Amino acid sequence: MKKLQQYKFVIISLVIVFIMYYSYRPGSGYLETVDELFSMVAGEPINASHPIAFYQSAYVDYRFDPPRLRIFSLNKCLENNQYLIANLHLNGNNSESVRKNIYGKPLDGHCPSIYIPASSCLYMPHSFSISLKPNEDPKKVTIFLDSRKVELNVEKIYKKTTEGITVCLQPVYYYSHWQNIVLYIEAWRAQGATRFIVNFHSATKETWKVLEYYRDLGLIEIKPWPSFPSLPAEIADKYPKIDNSVYVLSYFMAMNLCVLDIKTTIGTVADFDEVMVPTNGRLLDYATKEMADANVGALSFDNHYTSFTPRIYTNDFSGVSSPQFQPTPGIQTKYIFNASVLAIAQVHWPHSFVDSFFSWTRSKKADGALLHFRYVPGYGNLETTEQPYRFFPGNQSAHIKNMHDTANVIFNGSIPTFSTIPYDTLMKCIGKVLPVQDKVCRSTSGICREEMDKVTDWVYAESEPIFLVAS
Ligand SMILES: *[C@@H]1O[C@H](CO)[C@@H](O)[C@H](O)[C@H]1NC(C)=O
Ligand SMILES: *[C@@H]1O[C@H](CO)[C@@H](O)[C@H](O)[C@H]1NC(C)=O
Ligand SMILES: *[C@@H]1O[C@H](CO)[C@@H](O)[C@H](O)[C@H]1NC(C)=O
Ligand SMILES: *[C@@H]1O[C@H](CO)[C@@H](O)[C@H](O)[C@H]1NC(C)=O
Ligand SMILES: *[C@@H]1O[C@H](CO)[C@@H](O)[C@H](O)[C@H]1NC(C)=O
Repeated sequence: MKKLQQYKFVIISLVIVFIMYYSYRPGSGYLETVDELFSMVAGEPINASHPIAFYQSAYVDYRFDPPRLRIFSLNKCLENNQYLIANLHLNGNNSESVRKNIYGKPLDGHCPSIYIPASSCLYMPHSFSISLKPNEDPKKVTIFLDSRKVELNVEKIYKKTTEGITVCLQPVYYYSHWQNIVLYIEAWRAQGATRFIVNFHSATKETWKVLEYYRDLGLIEIKPWPSFPSLPAEIADKYPKIDNSVYVLSYFMAMNLCVLDIKTTIGTVADFDEVMVPTNGRLLDYATKEMADANVGALSFDNHYTSFTPRIYTNDFSGVSSPQFQPTPGIQTKYIFNASVLAIAQVHWPHSFVDSFFSWTRSKKADGALLHFRYVPGYGNLETTEQPYRFFPGNQSAHIKNMHDTANVIFNGSIPTFSTIPYDTLMKCIGKVLPVQDKVCRSTSGICREEMDKVTDWVYAESEPIFLVAS
């Protein structure tokens, strides 16, 4: 018996070495395969009694080798080894299809979430994925939940070749700080960004005007991120509404879908009050040079809370040329990434790459800073320090004049006075859903709407549902 124990140790060590070796090997996707092997031992299909909604598109991701089919969903946590039954239609036509059992995982690795404010939310973002054989090129996917089904169209994802930076925004909801957006777009453009993808839920009329202006210039793409659909009638009364029990509009899923939508070589996910800048020169040049090294999949920027005198909410941007900084090294970092290789994004660091599971091996600390101009900046006791970082490469004054001119054009000469009421109301509502001891999911979409509608007129995302449930 003792001998067996020793062998067990040796065997486990060998397996670990084997996994380490293969997960470093580019192009193996080995751990995903291990997952599939384990899952095949025993499993049961997800049936119509499970609360689940699917993002409308499935993806064939050719950045992986072999390519992977990836399906995104919001659902209650899965038991071990539950899988989806799906037909892949190979000819856009029901005549030729292959049936697959597809296993899923929570996108951020844990269900329920280990992130406390999200831990009591019933619906967590998941991804189901399976590697495809060379002859398998699905045009459509049908998922079966007992006798019900969901049909997904299929989009294809390839390595990126267009030089540039694409900036993804997590769902924008009840947003009122339109001045942030002017500074954000102008600074990112000056750093080399060529496209912005804005997942949009709701904003003040003034904010919407700014978004429309940049949309009409062809710079930003506004993607509706509307409220979530109701569950099928048979199970709807057994579970909370998705809107009321999903963490902050499922920003985690929106962000990861956006990563797939990037068409430029470099991408990033940054909020409207965050701009990443290198110490010298322009971000695009700096990053392209660093990422020419195939081992560098991401560049990580230390957070610097940044404030201006006067504040930009006075509609005076002159303080942007000489910002004050509160660095918080090591926490709240953000990153830019090689869009050909990032598999799953987390908020503050990459989760995984298409060719290596251990993401830290591919991340490098940037020579630069995340400039984070929060409305309520930083922490009380941090000291403001001198730093070399600026929002715009080169001479600041021309850019500052440009921001004033732009605001004048957007509002046709009468720039609106900023009101703090919408923001204060949102914070009050979030404060009410925050106490985690009450086991309330911080679900600002469903729960805050009534209160928010009382204080101003909001522009809401209008669209067909982008999440589908079985019918
Ligand atoms: C549906 O799945 C659940 C959980 O796996 C299981 O308990 C239940 O028996 C299944 N129902 C049917 C009708 O198969
Ligand atoms: C669809 O199926 C029919 C046979 O049922 C076949 O003749 C046709 O070529 C298929 N269409 C495509 C696009 O493959
Ligand atoms: C990104 O990764 C791809 C694939 O490994 C590589 O060809 C490319 O040079 C890298 N860098 C950039 C900036 O795209
Ligand atoms: C920046 O440009 C402004 C005019 O656009 C000019 O007055 C100023 O001298 C320049 N500053 C520097 C440091 O070159
Ligand atoms: C912009 O302002 C000018 C002068 O104040 C006015 O004549 C014009 O109608 C306005 N344009 C729009 C689109 O509101």
